Amino acid sequence: MSAAHMGRAAALILATLLASSCVSVSVTVASKEARRYNFRFVRHARDAPAVSYYNYIVVGGGTAGCPLAATLSEHSRVLLLERGGLPYGNRNVSSEYHFADALADTSPLSPAQRFVSEDGVVNARARVLGGGSCLNAGFYTRASAGYVRAAGWDARLVNASYRWVERALVFRPGVPRWQRALHAGLLEAGVTPDNGYTLEHLPGTKIGGTIFDRRGRRHTAADFLRRAHPRRLTVFLHATVSRVLFRPGGKKKPVAYGVVFTDSVGGEHHVYLRGGGGAARTR
Ligand SMILES: Cc1cc2nc3c(=O)[nH]c(=O)nc-3n(C[C@H](O)[C@H](O)[C@H](O)COP(=O)(O)OP(=O)(O)OC[C@H]3O[C@@H](n4cnc5c(N)ncnc54)[C@H](O)[C@@H]3O)c2cc1C
Ligand SMILES: *[C@@H]1O[C@H](CO)[C@@H](O)[C@H](O)[C@H]1NC(C)=O
Ligand SMILES: *[C@@H]1O[C@H](CO)[C@@H](O)[C@H](O)[C@H]1NC(C)=O
Repeated sequence: MSAAHMGRAAALILATLLASSCVSVSVTVASKEARRYNFRFVRHARDAPAVSYYNYIVVGGGTAGCPLAATLSEHSRVLLLERGGLPYGNRNVSSEYHFADALADTSPLSPAQRFVSEDGVVNARARVLGGGSCLNAGFYTRASAGYVRAAGWDARLVNASYRWVERALVFRPGVPRWQRALHAGLLEAGVTPDNGYTLEHLPGTKIGGTIFDRRGRRHTAADFLRRAHPRRLTVFLHATVSRVLFRPGGKKKPVAYGVVFTDSVGGEHHVYLRGGGGAARTR
């Protein structure tokens, strides 16, 4: 993870911040999976103190936020704030065969938040721990070496991160009839070579990875929280961040020093970076 390169400065990380006015609901008792993963650090935002301090605050427990928070917790005290609930115990999330149901579910309990784009397109976005990885089609592939170079990332660290993700979440898919026909059709249309099953980004046709296992069970980014340090990470569910607090950063850009979040009964909570943000030391 690039987190290894973040140095010792405390930072506010906005994994994703969407303006949202969602109706939050109560978390029920932790499901079997949550207990199996021993997620004792996952709590309801109602139980959050009015004021608290952390080395890192990650806003949004989605596809990026969960692995980021887990990695940062190796060396620092981390708070992860997610407006949705747990992904476990809901077959619309966990079963491949209910993929479309989660997207169709418009209730305030739904892990998918229905919205209409500025162009009028009806769409859905994640509102659940694990984020889009709880709703998406589960296709997995690595980026091309050229993409990684252009982004200026450390290719060795990127590869190590891919392996970390792949060990936990990525499976080789079965290729049933429709997919076989599409595969053959692409090759017949000249989209060659046939690269077979590979996670590499290659020209031609290939069979990529999937986050659904052979039993059709979805594995999500929330599972990465198993890798977190259980005493250095705190996760609040049904915690909707309403404000990021900034102070002037001299000649440079403003510096974030905290956030305000609201729980499911409208209670406001303030969280600040230890040391005031920017130049603070971690640990
Ligand atoms: C139907 C569908 C199919 C897709 N198929 C694929 C696919 O096959 N393969 C693929 O690679 N990608 C696919 N994607 C895209 C992929 O899922 C997303 O690009 C990815 O999940 C984005 O990750 P993220 O961490 O940036 O955001 P998200 O995973 O969306 O995480 C954002 C998180 O922030 C939380 N949040 C938002 N606002 C607040 C707030 N104010 N306070 C607190 N929390 C907040 C949200 O609840 C959410 O959990 C698909 C997406 C969809 C919707
Ligand atoms: C799954 O989705 C369907 C329809 O989209 C909805 O009626 C149902 O309540 C959802 N199930 C769960 C467990 O949330
Ligand atoms: C990273 O992995 C790719 C294959 O996915 C390989 O081509 C590349 O040489 C690797 N880079 C480094 C620095 O190990």
